[in-house]
Amino acid sequence: MAKIIAGVGCSHVPAIGAAIDLGKTGEAYWQPLFKGFEFSKRWIADEKPDVVILVYNDHASAFSLEMIPTFAIGCAAQFQPADEGWGPRPVPVVQGHPELAWHIAQATILDEFDMTIVNKMDVDHGLTVPLSLMFGQPEAWPCPVIPLAVNVVQYPPPTGNRCYQLGRAIRKAVASFDQDLKVMIFGTGGMSHQLQGPRAGLINSEFDRRFLDKLTADPDGLARLPHIEYVREAGSEGIELVMWLIMRGALEEKVHERYRFYHVPASNTAVGHIILENPR
Ligand code: DHB
Ligand code: FE
Repeated sequence: MAKIIAGVGCSHVPAIGAAIDLGKTGEAYWQPLFKGFEFSKRWIADEKPDVVILVYNDHASAFSLEMIPTFAIGCAAQFQPADEGWGPRPVPVVQGHPELAWHIAQATILDEFDMTIVNKMDVDHGLTVPLSLMFGQPEAWPCPVIPLAVNVVQYPPPTGNRCYQLGRAIRKAVASFDQDLKVMIFGTGGMSHQLQGPRAGLINSEFDRRFLDKLTADPDGLARLPHIEYVREAGSEGIELVMWLIMRGALEEKVHERYRFYHVPASNTAVGHIILENPR
C-alpha cells in the first residue's frame, strides 16, 4: 500500500526562483537562505520519495479571478511551468501521477470534500520554488508530483480547520491506494508577509516561530486559529500558512521534527521550512 512517510513545510517567494535561475545563490544576500536548505536536499535525496503531493497556491497563473476553485487537484500526466510575465522558469516539466491523483480525488470527494478535478494546468512559482529548494536544479524532477492548489488569494479562503481535515482525508486516501509508494506531502507558502498597503513588508517572527512549534506539537490547537489572527499577526499573505495544515493533517498525530529553518529576509517575506517525519 502507499504510505506517507514525511511532510515538508516551505515558503515559495518568487525571488528565490529568480536567484536560482540567474545563478545568484552564492551572493551575500542569498547565501544564508540557500545554506538553510542544504540538509533538506541531502535528506530528500536519501529518502527518495516515489511521489510528492504538493499543496500550494496559484497566483493568477492557472486560475484568474474568472474561476476560483477552493481546492483543486491536478490529475494530468504533465504540468508546464507557467509564464508569470518573464517567461516560464527554466525548470523541468512537472510529471504528474494521474492514478494516485484520481484516487485521491475520488476518495476525498466521497469523503465529502468538494475537490475540483483539473486535467490541464500550468504551475507557477508557488509550486516550482519549493521543488527547486528541495531538489536543486536537476535535468528532470526526481519523482512525479501531484499539484493540489488552494485558494488563498481571493476571500474567502478555506479555514485552517478545513485544511487540516482535508489533510486527514488525504492521509486515508493514500493509505487505501494499493501500490507500494513512498509518498511525501509538501505544505507551502508563507510565512508572515504582506505585499501591499500601509503594512507592506510586515514580518512577525514571533508568530512564525509559534506557528512552527504548534505545527509539530499542537496541530489541533493550531487548526482552530481563525483567519483574522493570520491576517492580523502574519499579514494578508500570511494566510498562505493554512496550506501547511493540509500537510500536517496528512501526517500522524505524533511526528518527529527532523529539521527546521527560519530566515528573514527573502524579498518581502519570512522564509520558514520544516521537515516532519511520520513514525517508522
Ligand atoms: C513575494 C512573495 C510571494 O509569496 C509572492 O507570491 C509574490 C511576491 C515577495 O516577497 O516578493
Ligand atoms: Fe505567494
